[in-house]
Amino acid sequence: MSYQILVLNGPNLNLLGTREPEVYGTDTLDDIVGDLRTLAEARGVDLRDTQSNSEGSLIDALHHARGWADGVIFNPGAYTHYSIALRDAISACGLPVVETHLSNVHAREEFRHTSVLSAVCLGVVGGFGRHSYAAALEALLRHLEG
Ligand code: DQA
Repeated sequence: MSYQILVLNGPNLNLLGTREPEVYGTDTLDDIVGDLRTLAEARGVDLRDTQSNSEGSLIDALHHARGWADGVIFNPGAYTHYSIALRDAISACGLPVVETHLSNVHAREEFRHTSVLSAVCLGVVGGFGRHSYAAALEALLRHLEG
């Protein structure tokens, strides 16, 4: 069975590579998604990716994914910590979503310790830099394969 996976990246992640490299590393988003695409191809998985700085566009991407995706790898950026609208969109789309973070949000400022999204996600991966995405893909595929 060949799965279709959406990789969705939220605000400020387009700046990866130059954005706070001591926190997020020096890989660009293209590097990270390129790596993931190689992994996905080896597994026969169709990966589509999109990034947006706007909450509404992320919600639209989740709504649209209902029509074609089997699951979502989602780094919601700072929206993680306060967007009830994204939480509702994750619930509404009914797809397994893996909340994914480059950094270990629990080792950072207190406001990052809360996620309003985790409870409606399949699971959470964070703290492994670019490898968080690979771990999220592996976990999602194992979940889909049952
Ligand atoms: C992040 C963590 C968030 O707290 C932060 O706002 C981000 C990136 C991460 O990948 O570590 O933008 O989601």
